[in-house]
Amino acid sequence: MRPTERADGPAAAEARKADWVRPMFDAIAPRYDLLNVLISLGMDRGWRRRAVDDLLAGRPRVVVDVGAGTGDLAIEILRRGQRQVRVVGLDFAGAMLRVGRRRIRALPGGARAHCVQGDALRMPLADGSADAVVSAFVLRNLDGLPEAFAAMRRLLRPGGRVIILEMTPMRQPLLRALFRFYFNRWVPLLGRAVSRHPSAYTWLPRSVDGFVSAETLTELMADAGLTDVRMRRLGFGAVALHTAARARG
Ligand SMILES: C[S@@+](CC[C@H](N)C(=O)[O-])C[C@H]1O[C@@H](n2cnc3c(N)ncnc32)[C@H](O)[C@@H]1O
Repeated sequence: MRPTERADGPAAAEARKADWVRPMFDAIAPRYDLLNVLISLGMDRGWRRRAVDDLLAGRPRVVVDVGAGTGDLAIEILRRGQRQVRVVGLDFAGAMLRVGRRRIRALPGGARAHCVQGDALRMPLADGSADAVVSAFVLRNLDGLPEAFAAMRRLLRPGGRVIILEMTPMRQPLLRALFRFYFNRWVPLLGRAVSRHPSAYTWLPRSVDGFVSAETLTELMADAGLTDVRMRRLGFGAVALHTAARARG
């Protein structure tokens, strides 16, 4: 399946998203950061700050950023200056990671983060090695949510925490209609003009439309054996911030 096709058709059930999601992110890497700011009207930074507030409240030492992309979360973590924190940014798109590495290296404390190329569903990292796993705007792109949460849980030490930031279908009918007009009509035009990619920014609204509700995501996290699952909505309800933990013992 190509990103221009419907994500909810029968073909989607058979195709692996990873096969085209990875080259798609490689292709848009040079314009990804600019488009994030344009599309979210600058709000994306505030959402990541909220996720990092929750993350650092647990005083983690080893943090894995799953689907780190161009390093926005890692950079926000390093900027807080908690010198005990080490960040591993994992992503399967090499071009996204190259942008991330360059940005991280330019920061004071940049040596406390490093990037690893790998798949979120088969992470090349030791079980139980992370105090926290954080992930922003990645889940919609993955081939299996239960598998993704199981992989995150395995990576955590007992008591470790998961922080997930993701777009979510809006509930309020008027806001939902406005948002869908903006996201389904305007974003693909803007995205194509700036990134020069034919379909990446058509996939973005489709992936949100086809994604599970924030409540279902809460249930899936609990089903994966995560405990203390909590959810907050941000960005007028367009974004959900989920936090959870791996049970101790
Ligand atoms: C929308 S970007 C988000 C990047 C970053 N977290 C942020 O907040 O800007 C999604 C990222 O997830 C990565 N990704 C998608 N599927 C993945 C997978 N199966 N394994 C590893 N990375 C994946 C993509 O390469 C891309 O960099």
